[in-house]
Amino acid sequence: MTRVAVLDGIGSCLPPRLVTNDELAARLDTSDAWIRSRTGIRQRYVVTDGTGTSDLAVGAGSRALKSSGDPHADTVVVATTTPDRPCPATAPAVAARLGLGHAAAYDVAAVCTGFLYALATASGLIALGVSARALVIGAETFSRILNPDDRSTSVIFGDGAGAVVLRAGSPDEPGALGPFELRSDGEGRDLITVPAGGPPPADPAAGPGAADYYFTMQGKKVFRLAVQRMGECARAVLDRAGRRPGDVDRLVSHQANQRIIERLADEIGIPYERTVSNIARVGNTAAASIPLALDHAHTERVLRPGDRVLLTAFGGGLTWGASMLTWPAIDPV
Ligand code: COA
Repeated sequence: MTRVAVLDGIGSCLPPRLVTNDELAARLDTSDAWIRSRTGIRQRYVVTDGTGTSDLAVGAGSRALKSSGDPHADTVVVATTTPDRPCPATAPAVAARLGLGHAAAYDVAAVCTGFLYALATASGLIALGVSARALVIGAETFSRILNPDDRSTSVIFGDGAGAVVLRAGSPDEPGALGPFELRSDGEGRDLITVPAGGPPPADPAAGPGAADYYFTMQGKKVFRLAVQRMGECARAVLDRAGRRPGDVDRLVSHQANQRIIERLADEIGIPYERTVSNIARVGNTAAASIPLALDHAHTERVLRPGDRVLLTAFGGGLTWGASMLTWPAIDPV
């Protein structure tokens, strides 16, 4: 029998500090009206000093394990753009804090597509028989890398984490993941980037300036590419699954901008009412975006057992991807 990864648990974690649009407008040349109309975002959550990505990952991971009814996992994957440290990876510390013994643990860096890349690699380990139960976490403290003076990024991103538990199962059961499409285009690496941090320049005078240590994004170009690329690979997943857009009950796409979610649904041919969105509440949480959206939709019963769910994301790299599953019956924690 074909062995595949099946979704078995889900959880999320947001830091307690809520930042409204008005709070940002008090220190930046922006307004609540601009942010809401151009992005759909009303608020976001950010960490306070002393809280790292691993803390949010542990919060989301423990809830996901609890919801699965089994505290064990032999693999932990953390998708993040903001690891606790450049070295080592964040996942081993998360595994240790969750009491997962000597579980395999590694990070995946694919920016806003990170969770889908992590989901695919963990699903592959399960399919191969290397892993029996995997905890896949998307976790970010993006506020740490935002330029506080850059209104074009500061208003968009927030912190948070979401996690799922995968177990081995068969392709015909609810929760079975796949197919996957994962793609990249490094030609676009400068569109979404923290410019500094590479090898020292041959001419020290040409070294990075202070602003280069912060996250930057060419929003307009990225907007168009995000719709186009997510649309392409979402359609490719549907084709490989032998499905049509009309078969999709819920589209859960990367929460980058409410207008992108609307255009994407249109591009794929899925009615807007079938999209899932929590961007108004949490902003763009990068690698945490899809599992956070899934967990919120699950908890609020927007996602129902039996719903056919299409996942797609786009982010820095450039990277993008898509996958599908039928939503399983999981008790909200
Ligand atoms: N408040 C007020 N005005 C702002 C602003 C803010 N926070 N940010 C930008 N502006 C201004 C710009 O300076 C520009 O002014 P100008 O016309 O005088 O030059 C104007 O608003 C339009 O800027 P633009 O960048 O064209 O806005 P936009 O409508 O494209 O929205 C983003 C900007 C970032 C919200 C949008 O481009 C976006 O969501 N991009 C994609 C993000 C994405 O997909 N990310 C995926 C990976 S994370």
